Amino acid sequence: MTVSGCQLIYVFVCATVVVQAQRPAFGRCPTVSPKEDFDVNQFVGDWTEIERSFYFFESSLSCTRLNFTLFDNDTMKAEVTYRTPWRGSTSQSRYQVKDVSTKPGELNMVLDGTLPAVIARMAPGSGKYIVLDTDYTDYALIYSCTDLRLVHADFIWVLGRGNDISVDARTVVYSTLDKSKINRDRLLLTNNKDCTSTNN
Ligand SMILES: *[C@@H]1O[C@H](CO)[C@@H](O)[C@H](O)[C@H]1NC(C)=O
Ligand SMILES: *[C@@H]1O[C@H](CO)[C@@H](O)[C@H](O)[C@H]1NC(C)=O
Repeated sequence: MTVSGCQLIYVFVCATVVVQAQRPAFGRCPTVSPKEDFDVNQFVGDWTEIERSFYFFESSLSCTRLNFTLFDNDTMKAEVTYRTPWRGSTSQSRYQVKDVSTKPGELNMVLDGTLPAVIARMAPGSGKYIVLDTDYTDYALIYSCTDLRLVHADFIWVLGRGNDISVDARTVVYSTLDKSKINRDRLLLTNNKDCTSTNN
């Protein structure tokens, strides 16, 4: 099958419009499964973004923090706070995660309300986020992928309980990505320096 350049350009433009922070690449999404016996009760609480895949913007949001709270009705609230690069001020987006126990380790995050367009494009959008691996106390590896016609677009998220993860955890994270055939060359370290004064 041959595909004209025009069609390819069309597909990539679609990809950028549809999936925002995800990065388009050729082929279909890799087949991945969540961590076995994922326990959401151990997963809840506070996380810090350590590394993320990055595509559209040169400068990343920094000091990204996540806070997951589980409710009795099988719903989680996820609050994501981050510092915007141009003003240094802190913004927050809120997500609902529904039917948490239906597929353990699959987080169907639905963005609450609206974000300014520029931030919305950099912040993770609504979608299915799969916890590929976590030890609950040090690191979590989260992956999101959307199949589009000839391409897929994906997003890798490495979270830590502290401002960095251990060397051992990083080794596990990288080998999990390699085993899952997820390209990790585009992972970027998040700037977590000077994050204490973000509560303005
Ligand atoms: C995370 O959320 C819980 C419940 O809403 C709250 O008690 C806790 O203080 C939050 N943590 C941070 C760092 O905001
Ligand atoms: C679940 O409960 C929480 C806390 O009471 C509430 O904020 C949320 O809207 C509820 N979600 C659903 C889907 O019922």
